[in-house]
Amino acid sequence: MLNEKIAKMLNEQITRELFSAYLYLDFANYYEDEALAGFAHWYEVQAQEERDHALLMRRYLIDSGVRVVFEAVERPKGEYKDFAQPLNEGLAHERFVTAHICAVYEQALALKDYKTVQFLDWFVKEQGEEEKTAEDLIRKMSLFGGDAKGLYLLNQELAARVYVPAVIPAQ
Ligand code: FEO
Repeated sequence: MLNEKIAKMLNEQITRELFSAYLYLDFANYYEDEALAGFAHWYEVQAQEERDHALLMRRYLIDSGVRVVFEAVERPKGEYKDFAQPLNEGLAHERFVTAHICAVYEQALALKDYKTVQFLDWFVKEQGEEEKTAEDLIRKMSLFGGDAKGLYLLNQELAARVYVPAVIPAQ
């Protein structure tokens, strides 16, 4: 049976991951409205990945004998002042999520819950990758997004992103 505090933290993390999906779909709504379908597609794929993260945590809790209880998911704000704002907010959000994942990780270590530590290893790595991707996007936007042709090409590049379902290696 999973430690109660760990179970509670992971249950809260499920809500955070679902909010991430909701936030990224909100970015996609904005970009669709601005005729940047490639940017919108990129965030739709990101939203699918976030939902996967929530489902992986849900499954881990269920398989650990925990009753999962869903909390309310916050409403994203829906308005952005320019094309770069969602990218910047995306990076800030990923850093926020990383801090929470690391907090569960530290708690699991403190309780010598090595099964959860092993489960979370994948998420720590994933967060590192997501922060790097978010930073790269911001850099590309500031380098190429300032003129119409650069923005057009960047939009095309982002349209090519392919969704790959998240799978945690068997433990
Ligand atoms: Fe699942 Fe990007 O945090």
